[in-house]
Amino acid sequence: MKRREALNKIFLGGTTVFLVTATLSSCEKEDPDSNNNNNNTNDDIIIDLSDSANNSLTNEGGYLVKSGVIIINTGNDNFIALSSVCTHNGCTVGYVAANDNLLCPCHDSVFALDGTVLQGPASSPLKTYNVKKEGDILTIS
Ligand code: FES
Repeated sequence: MKRREALNKIFLGGTTVFLVTATLSSCEKEDPDSNNNNNNTNDDIIIDLSDSANNSLTNEGGYLVKSGVIIINTGNDNFIALSSVCTHNGCTVGYVAANDNLLCPCHDSVFALDGTVLQGPASSPLKTYNVKKEGDILTIS
């Protein structure tokens, strides 16, 4: 094997390792309950609906992901909150208003609004949180 061929093989092998590593790391879990170092665990999440940064929550079907939790406006001044971390492999789920469920974009797991699995590959439900609304303030605990 010539030197140039050997270098090409080494370079291509390194590229493959890099791509596999990058792909796997994109599915790392972000469970807020596992982040004991940043004070997110068991701390309430406070959302001020009058803050323009939270505009996505002011309309029915709107949602927001914050600190590993997805908060959804379900209409009639009601809000729900669930872990946004897919139980299959840790991708962030999104709310699909048209289907009124949560979809993981990585491998298409689907969850009901109570967190139960409607479609795998995920097999465990999403954790749910309590939401209290006082005026414009949501407290997720
Ligand atoms: S990470 Fe959500 S379905 Fe695989």
